[in-house]
Amino acid sequence: MDLFSPEPAWAKARIAELTEKLNAANHAYYVLDNPQMSDYEFDMLLAELAGLEREFPDYVQAHSPTQRVGGAPVRNFVTVLHERPMLSLGNTYTKMDLLEFDARIRRMTEEPYTYVCELKYDGVSISLIYEDGELVRAVTRGDGRQGDDVTANIRTISSIPLKLRGTGIPSRLEIRGEVIMPHKVFHALNAKREEEGEPPFANPRNAASGSLKLLDPRQTAARKLDCFLYFLLADEYDGDTHIHSLEKAAEWGFKTGAYYRECAGIDEVMAFIDEWDKKRFDLPFDIDGVVLKVNQKHLWPVLGETVKSPRWAIAFKFKAQQVRTRLSGIGFQVGRTGAVTPVAHLEPVVLAGTVVKRASLYNADNLEKMDFRQGDTVLVEKGGEIIPKIVGIDLTRREPGGAPYRFAETCPECGATLVRKEGEAGYYCPNEDRCPPQIKGRLEHFISRRAMDINTIGESKIDVLYERGLLKTIADFYDLNYEALYGVEGGEQAVTGNRRVVSLRDRSVRNILSGIEASKRKPFETVLFALGIRFVGEVTAKALARHFGDIDTLMQATKEELLQTEDVGEIIAQSVLDYFAKPEHQAIIARLKAAGLQFATARTNESRAGIFAGTVWAVSGVFSRSRDEMKELIEANGGKITSGVSRNTDFLLAGDNMGPEKRKKALALGVEMVEESRFFEWLEAGEPVGGAADGAADTPSAADAAPSGV
Ligand code: IVH
Repeated sequence: MDLFSPEPAWAKARIAELTEKLNAANHAYYVLDNPQMSDYEFDMLLAELAGLEREFPDYVQAHSPTQRVGGAPVRNFVTVLHERPMLSLGNTYTKMDLLEFDARIRRMTEEPYTYVCELKYDGVSISLIYEDGELVRAVTRGDGRQGDDVTANIRTISSIPLKLRGTGIPSRLEIRGEVIMPHKVFHALNAKREEEGEPPFANPRNAASGSLKLLDPRQTAARKLDCFLYFLLADEYDGDTHIHSLEKAAEWGFKTGAYYRECAGIDEVMAFIDEWDKKRFDLPFDIDGVVLKVNQKHLWPVLGETVKSPRWAIAFKFKAQQVRTRLSGIGFQVGRTGAVTPVAHLEPVVLAGTVVKRASLYNADNLEKMDFRQGDTVLVEKGGEIIPKIVGIDLTRREPGGAPYRFAETCPECGATLVRKEGEAGYYCPNEDRCPPQIKGRLEHFISRRAMDINTIGESKIDVLYERGLLKTIADFYDLNYEALYGVEGGEQAVTGNRRVVSLRDRSVRNILSGIEASKRKPFETVLFALGIRFVGEVTAKALARHFGDIDTLMQATKEELLQTEDVGEIIAQSVLDYFAKPEHQAIIARLKAAGLQFATARTNESRAGIFAGTVWAVSGVFSRSRDEMKELIEANGGKITSGVSRNTDFLLAGDNMGPEKRKKALALGVEMVEESRFFEWLEAGEPVGGAADGAADTPSAADAAPSGV
């Protein structure tokens, strides 16, 4: 057999074998929590599968592990009617209510019954439809009658099987459950969001819900959601107990969790509730109660349902744990972005197993609303949210004469007068270039993994180098040299929590310098993100880099031009303008440029080839393809894109509803306008369309080469 062109039959069999093997490994890892393959082996097999699938695309199976993320982002979700309405559950908060619930069931049936107690997962409910064992649709609860089709996003959740395993699978089944975000993932996500200047999610439920509503499945995939299934509906399936349904569901590959239990009577239910009221804080995800369901399914129609909820199931909601303690003061914390957060200092108190000393008060609006007085006793709660919050003041214990608290007027770190922007809930310190936590924050952000990734330095060394005056701005990294670094000493936080003294010796100095050197190869979009411009996260940096091509064009861009970048709105555009308007920032960019960092997209650096080589284009209006695709076509054929029309522009690609300003400017400057149909004719003809820009002296000028008239 020729090794380089495997027989299709062989390839088909190998693709099928790898698909099954990798799906089984995923099931063991994500559902059973019992890994059976090393990450390395998994990655190797996955790479082999992906390679074969590329070569033999006809054999790719819908449930292949490579197909979890597929397709392009959607513009919005399609609304789908639920085949059977998604009911909610009645809520109870007291054991008295539970006794009543049980008594009512006993009144309605004489048959013996048991309960199944389950955890009440605090996430987003979802309905999954499988046909012939394959996942065909996933719909959110919506209003219970209809929800959003989020199949592409749901497919990215590794614990949800794309194809069921085992035997006796109904040809069509629906299963419902809860999509959750584990604590670990939630904390990492929020840390990243804060790093990028985006508001953190208040709790894992909101984060899970937000992640399911992302329009780009690749972004959902990065959120690492999980899903527990708890309710099976299938016509061809005749198991009588709910426990049996759960067991079957697990057999077919669903994650049902090992937490449910059959309880003989209401006393056992109470014991289950008490047990989980304590143990819930040890779980790696949030629950907000316990659900009890009558186990014998033939009793469900007998017991019936109300319009909102079944009478055979009920939720017992845990009370958020609360304690009283004294407010000893209110402090103000300055974050990396300059946002100032009020923090309550509390007399230490034990709550849900941990000692609480502080609680975030979120922002100025909230502080005003709470209206604390000095010496107040407050109620602290730990509920669905992981971070304790103050939910009220015990006014019965308020002493007369306590002064009210006001929001700080000046920055506790640098003394600058704080600013509150119209319509914003919080204050921030505007002294971004001189406020220590902001400076250190920007230095940390610059070297962070997603930015310049200079992992040979790390946060603790930043502190030391900042204290020694060696680092004040991000440009200073590139002035560090062996002599300056060697022997630098300072306190470093060791893993043990004790401070130990570090002294930079030969090896660490060399490491630091080589890390800095390597960062010079980072692409323009990464450098742009690393600058730490307010509101410019990775996605925006990428869009800006792509749209403007190089830093000079970006720095000269007007607000209107910035607003034409994908996903750039008023706030981001203004922030970019403010950043580049500052002489300090211009000086930093000049130094970084001199140090050799990448300030243009690779394409503009390359000597361009193709029919548009040497031409400069502006693009405006709506086309049959997205504007970005049109730009990519121009760039792929050697053209350069600029955001506005100027004397240097050769062509204006003119779509429908083109901006009137651009049209006017093009006419005034004699820039040739090219309609979409003509553009594609040029591409088809494949003849060079020369431009005068970028020193392409040997190509004819645009007006000479291109057919004229629009
Ligand atoms: S059973 C007809 N079981 O709680 C039965 N729901 O307040 C419907 N939930 O919409 C649901 N954990 O999103 C059920 N073990 C569990 C649950 C659970 C969480 C959610 C679900 C439902 C809501 C009702």
